[in-house]
Amino acid sequence: MSPIQSLLQDLHHRYSSLSEGKLASYIPELTKANPDWFGISVVTVDGQSFHVGDVDQQFTIQSISKVFVYGMALEDHGRDRVLKRVGVEPTGDPFNSLIRLDEASKRPDNPMVNAGAIATTSLITGEGPTERLNRLLAMFERYVGRDVYVDVPTFLSERATGHRNRAMAHLMLNFGMINGNIEEALDLYFQQCALLVTGRDLAGMAAALANRGTHPLTGIQAASPDYIREILSVMYTCGMYNFAGEWAYRVGIPAKSGVSGGILAVVPNQAGIAVFSPPLDENGNSVRGLRVLEDLSREYGLHLFDLSLGRCRFGEALLASDGEN
Ligand code: DON
Repeated sequence: MSPIQSLLQDLHHRYSSLSEGKLASYIPELTKANPDWFGISVVTVDGQSFHVGDVDQQFTIQSISKVFVYGMALEDHGRDRVLKRVGVEPTGDPFNSLIRLDEASKRPDNPMVNAGAIATTSLITGEGPTERLNRLLAMFERYVGRDVYVDVPTFLSERATGHRNRAMAHLMLNFGMINGNIEEALDLYFQQCALLVTGRDLAGMAAALANRGTHPLTGIQAASPDYIREILSVMYTCGMYNFAGEWAYRVGIPAKSGVSGGILAVVPNQAGIAVFSPPLDENGNSVRGLRVLEDLSREYGLHLFDLSLGRCRFGEALLASDGEN
């Protein structure tokens, strides 16, 4: 067996009995997840794939969608216009906090927290809500390589209970950070969060980011290479919420988590990694996901500043590996 496949199997075995963490419950539909679901996937930029566990289990993408919609807003408007509406500073606050929104700039701090993501989604261009949704789905389809669908029960569940998000949208309307119809912007945001994906999909999406926007398995150009640097930068500094600093310190690669239990991580120029396991810690990050990625990073020297290694051991393991092609 290839070294990468065997390490993924070890990690899966090591953490499958870890029972810490809780399912997200503020979106009622998410409590239907099975806490035992656990999958790990790696897709490399040269088209090898390694999978273990529940990698074909569908779940809603939640906050991981923010990464891709940010990329789309950048492509629609360019960096300067997007920066006027959404900053790039980590908050150190929970992902759903609205405390800092009322401070001096009235601009959400970054596109990875809810306020910033709602502002980003409101920037997506299109004639009316259907065209905007269709453009967004088409973008996700390029990243996934097949048709994608919104999970309607989860969308409705969040729409019925998402009062904090609604409050943020109203505040931003008041500050002039969102234009137009905020109910439409919120619906689009709730729909993007309710998109169904698998761990296998997420690893391929991460690999497309690692590969300057081109999906290594389909060859489809999912995003323009022009903004990958911006996307990976905000993932690196803000993708793991109030754990972002510790994540950068310990794991050292751009990543994004979501409350349904996914974590997507990018090893630039090398691979995309996804871990899916629904129980979350107090910051809203998958407990098993954090452990797996921390071990993988240490084992293979993935930390971007692991300069002492000279050459990342992951590359060496890949040369000795023969993943699914
Ligand atoms: O807006 C929300 O609260 C959810 N749709 C997404 C939040 C999320 O995934 C944050 N992740 N840790």
